[in-house]
Amino acid sequence: MSTRPLRIAPSILSADFSRLGDEVRAIDEAGADYIHIDVMDGHFVPNISFGAPIMRAVRSATNKVFDVHLMISPTDPYLADFAKGGADIITVHAEAGAHLHRSLQAIRALGKKAGVALNPATPVSAIQHVIDDCDLVLVMSVNPGFGGQSFIPESLNKIRQAKALIGGRDIDLEVDGGVSADNAGLIVAAGANVLVAGSAIYGGNDPATYAGRIKAVRDAATSLRA
Ligand code: DX5
Ligand code: ZN
Repeated sequence: MSTRPLRIAPSILSADFSRLGDEVRAIDEAGADYIHIDVMDGHFVPNISFGAPIMRAVRSATNKVFDVHLMISPTDPYLADFAKGGADIITVHAEAGAHLHRSLQAIRALGKKAGVALNPATPVSAIQHVIDDCDLVLVMSVNPGFGGQSFIPESLNKIRQAKALIGGRDIDLEVDGGVSADNAGLIVAAGANVLVAGSAIYGGNDPATYAGRIKAVRDAATSLRA
């Protein structure tokens, strides 16, 4: 069980892109801790979302942490764009290139927090030798590319292993994919402290529902965390 602060990170992948600034503002006012920003390139993952210009366009809508999840390959040529555009945490995939250590160093050199994401089939041991270069570990609990998929149950074992690797280090453990109030308790009990949720919060795109949904995820997580 983690004693690190619990963070709820709604993913704007499920926002209404035609009014993205308002959607970001609404999720801020509804109590989001981080704003999770999913960048997809149609190459590393089978879908295209948006890039740094769109992220930059909504930076002024909130002061909350921009938690940027790069599902792109290569990553290194784009890191400076995201750093300058207002990212606070930049997460790259362990599978995205041959030189993960270099990418993590590059993110920190830009003055940002460095995250590393693991696809469902990638073992925790893949990051064993770079763990001290990370500020955040992201366990993917679906195959990245789309919102609205079902949580892969084996992810709970992976979260426990990642938590064991992190130990007492100052590193966030984030989980992304199929997270809802129904499984948030089990996820934090396994050791996670940052919960990404896209469709569970933005589904239907009615701002009147966001605060209640964020609270439901937070309450479910907190109940198994004390
Ligand atoms: C999936 C993205 C997720 C996605 C989660 O590739 O990385 O952040 O938005 O969506 P839900 O919560 O609907 O599974
Ligand atoms: Zn994501």
